[in-house]
Amino acid sequence: MRQKTLPASSADNFLEQSPIYEAVDLCDSQMTQSAISRSPHGRTMLVSLSILPLTRVIVNSLIIFLQHKESISTNYRYNESKQGETMKIAVLGTGMVGQAHAGKLASLGHQVFMGTNDPAKTRARTKIDQMSRPGIGLWLDANPEVKLTKFATAAQQGDLIINATSGQVSLEILSGLKKHLAGKTLIDISNPLDFSKGFPPFLSVSNTNSLGEQIQKALPELKVIKAFNTMNAVVQTNPLRTAEGDHHLFVAGDDKPAKDTVISFAKQQYGWKNIIDLGDIKSARGMEMILPIWLEIRNSLNSPDFNFKIAR
Ligand SMILES: NC(=O)c1ccc[n+]([C@@H]2O[C@H](COP(=O)([O-])OP(=O)(O)OC[C@H]3O[C@@H](n4cnc5c(N)ncnc54)[C@H](OP(=O)(O)O)[C@@H]3O)[C@@H](O)[C@H]2O)c1
Repeated sequence: MRQKTLPASSADNFLEQSPIYEAVDLCDSQMTQSAISRSPHGRTMLVSLSILPLTRVIVNSLIIFLQHKESISTNYRYNESKQGETMKIAVLGTGMVGQAHAGKLASLGHQVFMGTNDPAKTRARTKIDQMSRPGIGLWLDANPEVKLTKFATAAQQGDLIINATSGQVSLEILSGLKKHLAGKTLIDISNPLDFSKGFPPFLSVSNTNSLGEQIQKALPELKVIKAFNTMNAVVQTNPLRTAEGDHHLFVAGDDKPAKDTVISFAKQQYGWKNIIDLGDIKSARGMEMILPIWLEIRNSLNSPDFNFKIAR
């Protein structure tokens, strides 16, 4: 039942530990139990054993047919309810962050549109990079359920938008999508990292302003919620793999209902347990200014696989 209802993907390990997965499992076993208790098959089976062989063949065939029919209708009901929860999500960006979110969300059954500048050029990138990561073209081959489109098509199609574009171009890209984004919620993961002077990068906006605020100001009808930018891409979508989820996700944004939607999304889709609402979009300043210390910690630990935990 597990393998039938959940698509195989790199997210499988996470799903096996996830409350969502347990809920699905529980849901399936409850449906099976209620199907059995509603069904007269158990009693019919006992009766069929005590009658003539030919009649027994006919009755048993009928039982198999009814059981099959019951199982089809049970699966249908399950798929129907899963469909009801499916979202159309635009993931703008094809880097590590875009891949982490698009892959996970598609594996959970959502309709995912991954935005890029030039889909044909992006798809043609098939070389393994210096970090031994497959080119996005190879990743797309392995994740055929993710639809690669231009940024504008993705923004138009998505009901929920995830900004995973380079912080140096986020404002420009999103400003060009204004008409498609009005009224929608955008999860802003971008960081204003400027690598023009080499490594470590510096923040191109900080202290008295932030990229999150700049995006919100440029697109006032968009509901910008800063989130996930304070940790590595893999941790963002797999919080349970680090310290069993005992660490924190920060969120900030002006629109309270949109922020609540993002908080529920993080819990339900990725399994986040600890989320701190830092207030309005001004708090994006602090969230983005975490990056310099994040980079220092990453270098000291020689690994990006960690996150911040707020103890009190
Ligand atoms: N990597 C992480 O673990 C991590 C963690 C937290 C936050 N972030 C933030 O999340 C965002 C995405 O990071 P990432 O590492 O996944 O990818 P990235 O390399 O920072 O950005 C990739 C995306 O930006 C677009 N892009 C880059 N330079 C461009 C330019 N000059 N003109 C137009 N488009 C350009 C690319 O377009 P194409 O698709 O056309 O190539 C691609 O879609 C960044 O803002 C980053 O700071 C990253």
